[in-house]
Amino acid sequence: MASETKTFYGVSTVAIVTGASKGIGRAIAIEFAKRFTEGLLLVLTGRSEKDLQETVSLIQADSSFSPSKTAIRSIYGDLANQSSLQLVFEGLFKDMDPAKYDHAVLVNNAGSLGDVSKYVRDFTLDDMEGLQDYFFLNVNCPLLLTSKFLSVFSSKNEKGPSKHTIVQITSLAGVQATKSLSMYCTGKAARDMLHKVVAAEEPHARVLNYAPGPVDTPMFHHIKDGSVDPDTASAMKKSVKIVLQPEKTASILCDFLGEDKYESGAHVDVFDIIGLPKMD
Ligand SMILES: NC(=O)c1ccc[n+]([C@@H]2O[C@H](COP(=O)([O-])OP(=O)(O)OC[C@H]3O[C@@H](n4cnc5c(N)ncnc54)[C@H](OP(=O)(O)O)[C@@H]3O)[C@@H](O)[C@H]2O)c1
Repeated sequence: MASETKTFYGVSTVAIVTGASKGIGRAIAIEFAKRFTEGLLLVLTGRSEKDLQETVSLIQADSSFSPSKTAIRSIYGDLANQSSLQLVFEGLFKDMDPAKYDHAVLVNNAGSLGDVSKYVRDFTLDDMEGLQDYFFLNVNCPLLLTSKFLSVFSSKNEKGPSKHTIVQITSLAGVQATKSLSMYCTGKAARDMLHKVVAAEEPHARVLNYAPGPVDTPMFHHIKDGSVDPDTASAMKKSVKIVLQPEKTASILCDFLGEDKYESGAHVDVFDIIGLPKMD
């Protein structure tokens, strides 16, 4: 194991992964459980109790899993409104003893697509509630969760973890305007900037905006089949040829985190790491 990887995965760690009940978040949680070697508290969130339980079962079914090495805490709840977010926070950080960990990791993964059936000109005041819920989940929630994470695992607490890593699961759409994806593009751009600000404010922390590529989850298929814009739908149909499985992109992310060589706050696309595959 390279020394950087050892430093990343070889210390006692608490890792919070939002949206771990399926897709990319589930794959990251499973990969983390395999890689951290010196004691891991994995704290997972999702709305669906059944799906989150399935993630836990998959982690426990792996031959490398040992309950003496990895503890799992599952917290169910909707991150898209203030009252349930409060309850999720209480569950996430309940009886948390920062002194037990050398490394604290937060993965702001949970996210949604928003309405892809409209161009910007089609939105009306009737969309206000949907817009508010969307931006609460995709922007307010990662901001508030990152804030809570930084205060609980403060670098000023000498007994707390000395190493802090914050990963945001972003998208090409955060840096590339895409017709019919106004909510998604705007949310991802805001999340990218939020995490860049965190990188500037918290020089001790390592912050990464990771774009996982087109990934074979319902979100990808929903853009492909549901976008009102023919160019966007056609681009997504073409990218079926290069679509990645959640496990693959999670593994590439985990290798990259282990190498620990990115500039904090950077937006890194999976294809920056592995190279762009041929489309034809
Ligand atoms: N798939 C892609 O091609 C792609 C590409 C670039 C970036 N991404 C990003 O990757 C991240 C994960 O996406 P995915 O493709 O894995 O999607 P997914 O399979 O739909 O998973 C989304 C996860 O977020 C959780 N979530 C959604 N709304 C929530 C809410 N209101 N409250 C709490 N949790 C909520 C879901 O939990 P429940 O199911 O339990 O509700 C689920 O665990 C997202 O940020 C997405 O934007 C995806």
